[in-house]
Amino acid sequence: MSEPTAVDAATKSPPLLEVEHLVKRFPGARSLAVDDVSFQVARGEVLGLVGESGSGKSTTARCVAGLVRPDTGSVRLDGEDLGRVRGRALTAVRSRMQMVFQDPYSSLNPRMTVEQLVGEGLLVHRIEPDRAARRERVVELLELVGLSGDHLPRHPRSFSGGQRQRIAIARALAVSPELLICDEPVSSLDVSVQAQVLNLFRDLRERLRLSMLFIAHDLGVVHYLCDRVAVMEHGSIVETGDRADLYADPRHPYTRALLAAAPVPDPRLERARRVAASDRRAT
Ligand SMILES: Nc1ncnc2c1ncn2[C@@H]1O[C@H](COP(=O)(O)OP(=O)(O)O)[C@@H](O)[C@H]1O
Ligand SMILES: [Mg+2]
Repeated sequence: MSEPTAVDAATKSPPLLEVEHLVKRFPGARSLAVDDVSFQVARGEVLGLVGESGSGKSTTARCVAGLVRPDTGSVRLDGEDLGRVRGRALTAVRSRMQMVFQDPYSSLNPRMTVEQLVGEGLLVHRIEPDRAARRERVVELLELVGLSGDHLPRHPRSFSGGQRQRIAIARALAVSPELLICDEPVSSLDVSVQAQVLNLFRDLRERLRLSMLFIAHDLGVVHYLCDRVAVMEHGSIVETGDRADLYADPRHPYTRALLAAAPVPDPRLERARRVAASDRRAT
């Protein structure tokens, strides 16, 4: 998936997600939270979006998901401009992308049971109006994310952070989205749990052929999962590259700084990176 645009050109269809010239300034803010951001996600591709806190990652994700209205710019899903769709058509196109948030403690309504949380989308989008069938589907979804049907009547408070994030993922997957927008979904978890949840994302990606926009503040996390990585600084994307190229030969000073701060947990790439760095020093 190194040439997403070529892949899409071959299938003669637009990229799954096409973001163009997105701009967002919050009222009263001196600088732009998102400053002319453009990128694409091809079908089946996972794009990592990385940058330090405050660089505009969440605002970008929220603009894509329709939770924040951009000042200008466009978001197209499968060629359809989300800024121009209204009413039921908008609900339908929105259900094709789902978001997983950073904090599974605040993103799940504490008063709802797991059955209600995971089944809500099935009910709202009238995918499974029948209660028994819905319950069956919820159990399938729970098993898909490594939980079980025993959890149906329980409330979020009785789960660990990692389990809560699994519930949030099952909830997002309920409506069979094509694109998952994950906003630092492992940042709030213990390091030991992060790897398990990242494994789950990788597994789901394979099994469901999901496309993802996967946000993280460190390059180590996205290295594990992403085909391409976009690096964000002060509201702008400063570098985009295929994963291996970006790690082995970062072009932008900010990308290099991020890499230095987060050693890549892959010895081969780590070596390639050191060689590239010493080549640069030699020339
Ligand atoms: N709802 C909001 N109202 C005002 N300013 C915001 C809001 N959300 C984010 N910002 C500001 O926009 C900038 C980008 O924030 P954000 O998108 O959350 O970055 P990141 O996710 O990379 O940490 C920051 O300066 C932040 O303070
Ligand atoms: Mg954020």
